[in-house]
Amino acid sequence: MKMIKPAESSVTLSPLIANRWSPRSFDAAAEISDTDIAAILEAGRWSPSTNNQQPWRFIVAKRGDSHFENLTKHFAGFNAAWAPSASALVLVAAVTTNDDGSARPFALYDAGLASAFMTIEANHRGIAVHPIAGYDREQVKAEYSLPDNYLQTAILVLGTQAPAESLEDTVLVEREKAPRVRLPLSEIVIVGLPAA
Ligand SMILES: Cc1cc2nc3c(=O)[nH]c(=O)nc-3n(C[C@H](O)[C@H](O)[C@H](O)COP(=O)(O)O)c2cc1C
Repeated sequence: MKMIKPAESSVTLSPLIANRWSPRSFDAAAEISDTDIAAILEAGRWSPSTNNQQPWRFIVAKRGDSHFENLTKHFAGFNAAWAPSASALVLVAAVTTNDDGSARPFALYDAGLASAFMTIEANHRGIAVHPIAGYDREQVKAEYSLPDNYLQTAILVLGTQAPAESLEDTVLVEREKAPRVRLPLSEIVIVGLPAA
């Protein structure tokens, strides 16, 4: 049975937020439809951004295609063990400068927002998402001829969640079953902590 790890929160959250987490056990036989991929990308496209600059750029790969092979071969450490079982990958890069070369200081923020929107749309469609930054971005940059002002953020690993026991490595099984933890609100709210 797939692991469910709802967020423990002081007040009830939307199920989409509460039940989202980043699993590593994916069904290596499951496929993702083009409609689902399109919806996930549209969710990113429709996220807010600084001055509507939309500085996000995506590399999309489906298991079985050459881009999926290209990306997964650069996964680092444990990521190489579990992430290739996913159904699709979306690499999210942020365009960090304007055409005149001036900086876009909020490009990374915008790309993060797009990633969050895509994650929520995917979860809504029953597709689990695990972001990873552990891969060789220099190799990916070279292979896709990404310009210097394309700052790679992370790769969203998308797929159908599988039972924890499907993972071969016992360390990964333990991580899959480990509780999700967060700092308490009292540590992250500088002022204005609500009474609830
Ligand atoms: C930018 C970013 C990079 C991450 N890189 C990795 C990674 O390389 N490998 C991995 O297993 N998890 C990675 N994670 C997943 C985090 O470890 C995970 O989101 C965090 O522990 C909170 O767990 P939850 O998403 O299940 O709530 C990454 C998350 C983010 C946002």
